[in-house]
Amino acid sequence: MKLNANETDAFRRDGYLVLSDLVDPVTCAALRHQADALVAAFEPDDVASIFSTTNQQQATDLYFLESGGAVRCFFEEEAFDATGALQVPKSRAINKIGHALHDLDPVFAPFSRSSAFEDIVTTLGVAEPLLLQSMYIFKQPSIGGEVVWHQDATFLYTDPVSAIGLWVALEDADIENGCLWALPGGHLHGLKRRFKRGAGGATFFDEMDDVAWRNEDFVPLEVRAGTVVVLDGSLPHGSRANRSIRSRHAYTLHVIDREAKYPSDNWLHRPANMPLRGFGSQI
Ligand code: FE2
Repeated sequence: MKLNANETDAFRRDGYLVLSDLVDPVTCAALRHQADALVAAFEPDDVASIFSTTNQQQATDLYFLESGGAVRCFFEEEAFDATGALQVPKSRAINKIGHALHDLDPVFAPFSRSSAFEDIVTTLGVAEPLLLQSMYIFKQPSIGGEVVWHQDATFLYTDPVSAIGLWVALEDADIENGCLWALPGGHLHGLKRRFKRGAGGATFFDEMDDVAWRNEDFVPLEVRAGTVVVLDGSLPHGSRANRSIRSRHAYTLHVIDREAKYPSDNWLHRPANMPLRGFGSQI
């Protein structure tokens, strides 16, 4: 899956690349099935108890902060009613699973190490790719939350910026069910802010540029299941809420270059016994 010159030129110019029919329907179905199994095995009461402790924010933060080396489920905000009770079935309540499926899950790990993905990122100049983060995103019917405009390198920073995202549509994605939107060429204007982990684990944004992105400059990326959208880590993108009756499942994998510096104040830390690995190493 070597990209041709037209494709690499388009990626450099636009900050993203849409590759249709890269993942076959059987594989898409197998990934969706595995995500469903992970949610079925998830005990929401365990996490609900985390949210109800007196140290609520601290416990919530810890559940997130320690997910860089784990497989954890995160709820849709609108899954709860005003009293804090789940108002949809568990299978319709999860926003995403993250953030180490690519290392820990027997289905997602080999898929994440597909030679096609390795070829794409190395063709785009990542000298020594490391698989940093993975997420299964459900974009649930009716309540799938908005993802505000952002750059992935805000959260997955390296010096220099090296993050590349591989966004895999596991279902058709369109404007109605909350497809990706991107700002073509917006990656050329640098990083707007960094999301940092401060002393004691508190997280905050370090603002580097206050130039606003204009909504009207974003374009929808409507794609069929099996499409892979490659995203420059500096590309502004996001997605709107899903108010349709259809879900919009996607799997995202983020890769960085081992040659770039990964700062310790990034939010995503890995346990000492789980160093980042490249495409060549299997579980
Ligand atoms: Fe993103």
